[in-house]
Amino acid sequence: MNKLIAWFDERIPMTKTWNIHLAQYPAPKNFNFWYIFGVLATLVLVNQIVTGIWLTMNYVPTGEGAFASVEFIMRDIEYGWLLRYMHSTGASAFFVVVYLHMFRGMMYGSYQKPRELLWIFGMLIFLVLMAEAFMGYLLPWGQMSYWGAQVIISLFGAIPIIGDDLTQWIRGDYVISGATLNRFFALHVIALPLVLVILVFLHIIALHEVGSNNPEGISIKKPKGSVPESEKPKFKFHERFTNKYDIVDAFPFFPYYIVKDLVGIAIFLFFFCYVIFFAPAMGGMFLEPPNFEAANPLKTPEHIAPVWYFTPFYAILRAVPNKLLGVILMFGAIVALFVLPWLDRGKVRSVRYRSTLHKINLTVFAISFIVLGYLGLKPATDVYTFFARVFTFLYFAFFVLLFFYSKNEKCKPVPERITK
Ligand code: HEM
Repeated sequence: MNKLIAWFDERIPMTKTWNIHLAQYPAPKNFNFWYIFGVLATLVLVNQIVTGIWLTMNYVPTGEGAFASVEFIMRDIEYGWLLRYMHSTGASAFFVVVYLHMFRGMMYGSYQKPRELLWIFGMLIFLVLMAEAFMGYLLPWGQMSYWGAQVIISLFGAIPIIGDDLTQWIRGDYVISGATLNRFFALHVIALPLVLVILVFLHIIALHEVGSNNPEGISIKKPKGSVPESEKPKFKFHERFTNKYDIVDAFPFFPYYIVKDLVGIAIFLFFFCYVIFFAPAMGGMFLEPPNFEAANPLKTPEHIAPVWYFTPFYAILRAVPNKLLGVILMFGAIVALFVLPWLDRGKVRSVRYRSTLHKINLTVFAISFIVLGYLGLKPATDVYTFFARVFTFLYFAFFVLLFFYSKNEKCKPVPERITK
């Protein structure tokens, strides 16, 4: 066995990679509940790719065949229903875990220096994920697939001068048609997953270059020679990490956190399986009722709403009477997250040690996001639109306020070492 490993090691950095990224990677000892979502996002990504491959084997990407092929998968293919529900539930689960993963980063200041690029890779992942989900939703060719895509693609029409040509270019037709379905299929099945996997790879590489943050927001790297031997952890960390620094308050990722993560994975799978087996449509939230009807270009559904994970942004779009302004604001809501590392000028990372103002600001932001999500599911009546405006204002207020108060924020003293 050793000879075999040595044979590989001489040809590819196998043991070295294992040690740097797992067995000798120092992970802060105080990871909590919020640190499971990166692993869960990875798990869901694998689930989507594997179930996606099997669905593709029987799916027909044409306007005439798509809807019927999904019904065929559901009724006639052995365990086809399971593959499809794993994939459709996985899409929603992806956004649940990614939203929580992002919020963790916001709570503990994981986007701050030196993790800006890690955050940017995360945001790119988020963008690609949204595109991936949007295109995937057209594929069953149901009523909501068709009309949802119609609404979203027509948004590009609001762009001055090039708008109309652009929407036509995206659709590949004057209306949404089989040509649109075909290209969305190609992008959904190969192009975007490829980009996603590459981005996740870069995300992890960037994380392991700078090291993980933690709920205290303090570094486990101390200046070389500043930590007495008795206080250093008794584990071996790769020299890549110990060359320049003394590492404190950390465990090797493998086996310690792998075992801990397995507990989180098991709990997640309970919920995931519950939805798959008992509530795959989730009361119309994960699979919307009009989508059980084949796409019909001559019949507009009474109420068009995107799937829940897009609704916070959809509510922002609808809150503005002017279409172009609405589109700008909707994209602005995402751009603001991109530039978060530069909007936050504070030195303290974790919300635990930041000012009361910051705690309130972050809480209001989270509430606004959830309320906007709810409002985006509702019809745009006067009352709902009024609230959508209020919460859109609060959503953006988070970023503006943060920029101003973070520079001279009064924070609590931050401890030197991780004690809780
Ligand atoms: C497919 C989607 C994603 C996957 C598979 C993924 C994977 C991971 C993993 C495995 C970790 C290390 C474990 C952890 O800290 O939870 C991590 C950390 C991190 N991710 Fe992601 N991620 C994804 C999306 C995102 C997004 C959308 C963002 C934000 C825009 C983001 C920002 C971060 C940050 C800031 C960290 C470091 C956290 C810290 O050390 O405190 N990730 N990611």
